[in-house]
Amino acid sequence: MILVTGATGTVGRELVGRLLALGVPVRATTRRPDTAGLPDGIEVVRADLGDPDGLADAMRGVDRVFLLSGGPEIPTHDANLARAADRAGVGHLVKLSSGRTGDDTATDPIPTWHRAGEQAVRDSGVAWTMVRPLGFMANALHWADSIRDQGAVYAPFGQGRIAVVDPHDIAAVAAKALTTGGHEGEIYTLSGPEPLSPGEQTAILAGVLGRPLRYVEVEPAAARQAIIDHGVPDAMADAIMALRATALEAFTSVVHPTVERITGTPPRPFREWAEHHSHHFARADAPPKRPRSGGIYGGIARESPATSST
Ligand SMILES: NC(=O)c1ccc[n+]([C@@H]2O[C@H](COP(=O)([O-])OP(=O)(O)OC[C@H]3O[C@@H](n4cnc5c(N)ncnc54)[C@H](OP(=O)(O)O)[C@@H]3O)[C@@H](O)[C@H]2O)c1
Repeated sequence: MILVTGATGTVGRELVGRLLALGVPVRATTRRPDTAGLPDGIEVVRADLGDPDGLADAMRGVDRVFLLSGGPEIPTHDANLARAADRAGVGHLVKLSSGRTGDDTATDPIPTWHRAGEQAVRDSGVAWTMVRPLGFMANALHWADSIRDQGAVYAPFGQGRIAVVDPHDIAAVAAKALTTGGHEGEIYTLSGPEPLSPGEQTAILAGVLGRPLRYVEVEPAAARQAIIDHGVPDAMADAIMALRATALEAFTSVVHPTVERITGTPPRPFREWAEHHSHHFARADAPPKRPRSGGIYGGIARESPATSST
């Protein structure tokens, strides 16, 4: 039995679908089973990473665990889960971390939280694999409203390039690590096939959608304010902005061969991700094909046109 935490999120849903297709028994956790919209054929249990007793229950009969956590609670939540896994005799734990955790110069909050979470996993004594993706292609969904309504993408750090990776490929690597041998003690840094700036992503989206789109550079201060206006605490907004600023660093534009090495299939290009998700950007009132979780960062990355510096 494989326990998948974060099963209603971007990576977790992809992973659940993949494990289901492989015929592996899956138990998925969510804090809201009634509205989780998870597929038939898996066990769905209520669990909160902040509740060690609930985690002990969720862990019964589990051999392997996928750990997905987010925000300032990452160190505590990872320690809770790793401890429960150790007590339950779990054989292998795969943690979704962050690419920049491996960048020793990155001292901003998000890689710092993940570094502490990784350490808690190592300290638990359970065999582990760390999966460290660079930025997700799915972050482009935060542009869906302004693309639909105005044919525009508003984002800061336009000169920066990130070798964004498709969550489909992150889930494929996690599934391999959970279902085949030889991944214990390995750290997998994942990227997509090419580094892209937000302007280049905008041009690809325009090609896929078949209509012109504008990229509009937003000042970092205005982007931060837009995040706060969406109800995110100041400290979290600062953590997100620090992460976004790393688009300007060389580290995030490096292409890694890991997806193909582990899965045998090259990572998907952004164009393919855009084709699979074009319905989210369609002008007509086409609803998303599946429910999206509010997300650990709860849609905070949407820019408001009012924040545009131009
Ligand atoms: N976005 C990026 O560019 C990027 C890049 C590298 C790494 N990452 C890392 O990827 C992770 C986020 O992955 P994602 O985007 O797939 O997640 P997501 O879509 O934001 O979904 C978050 C998931 O976490 C669950 N969750 C939230 N709070 C929880 C709690 N207290 N206890 C148990 N479950 C909880 C939610 O489940 P319920 O609401 O159903 O309970 C949901 O399934 C973070 O660790 C982030 O640092 C992101």
